[in-house]
Amino acid sequence: MEIQLWRQILCPYELAVKELTVKFNHLIKEHHEKDLYSPITQVMGRVKSVTSILDKLQRKNIPLDKLEEEIDDIAGIRIICQFVEDIAKVEELIRGRSDMEIVSVKDYIHHIKPSGYRSYHLIIAYTVETLQGPKKIHAEIQIRTMAMDFWSTIEHSLQYKYKANMPEHIRKRLSNAADAIVALDHEMSSVRSDIMDAQNSSMTNLKLVEDILNNIENLYRVSNKREVSKIQDEFYRIYQMNDMEQLKHFHRQLDIISEGYRAQAVTTDFEE
Ligand code: GTP
Ligand code: MG
Repeated sequence: MEIQLWRQILCPYELAVKELTVKFNHLIKEHHEKDLYSPITQVMGRVKSVTSILDKLQRKNIPLDKLEEEIDDIAGIRIICQFVEDIAKVEELIRGRSDMEIVSVKDYIHHIKPSGYRSYHLIIAYTVETLQGPKKIHAEIQIRTMAMDFWSTIEHSLQYKYKANMPEHIRKRLSNAADAIVALDHEMSSVRSDIMDAQNSSMTNLKLVEDILNNIENLYRVSNKREVSKIQDEFYRIYQMNDMEQLKHFHRQLDIISEGYRAQAVTTDFEE
């Protein structure tokens, strides 16, 4: 196949990877904006390289003209979660969408691969718009925890290095590490609600402070400097108390003050 043709074949897959990455990243943002815990921590995407495609065709004895039908992971998305429990939530989110359809599932979490590999794979059908019109393609979504991702990244490098001849002592180490990863995921799950609480309150705190600072900045435009300066000092004082409730109370009061100025501004506008 000519180089130009490869580029043409891969083009819709590149678009799909870009679109899907944007969409999943936006899901993270939507959760954060609603103050909800996001089951997705990170999203990565890639288009399979021509060499990997050629290797796979050869390995699986697939003719070149069956490439798009037979290879489901030309477009690949990886979704990283914190906890094993998040994986089912991500699947649910995907099932609920109208822009992607789950074609098949491979559950390597309940059915760990002999290598020790764990991950949850979905093949989805996804339509991209091209110059020639809509094109329905397949994409592979790998959903896994950070711990699973750590293991499979390391194992993948070693697989690459040793190809089919991985020394037995390394295989054994990897297998031990895989067991440790199962234990790690399990331990993390058992303190999941505490971790989620801690992360939520640190996020709320961050947004609260951001909001207060925005409010103070806006006040600078409508109020006199001396008054804003007093408010700012008060904010620093309360911030140092390290008490979320006090900070929330200050935020509400600041809102009332700002609201007062806004009402005044509207009245002035009417009078003009
Ligand atoms: P390929 O393995 O890609 O040829 O496809 P397949 O049709 O055999 O599907 P499979 O579900 O076995 O693998 C899909 C993808 O999962 C692979 O491309 C890898 O990214 C990942 N994967 C599967 N098995 C392993 C493994 O033992 N180690 C690592 N690191 N990754 C794996
Ligand atoms: Mg495989």
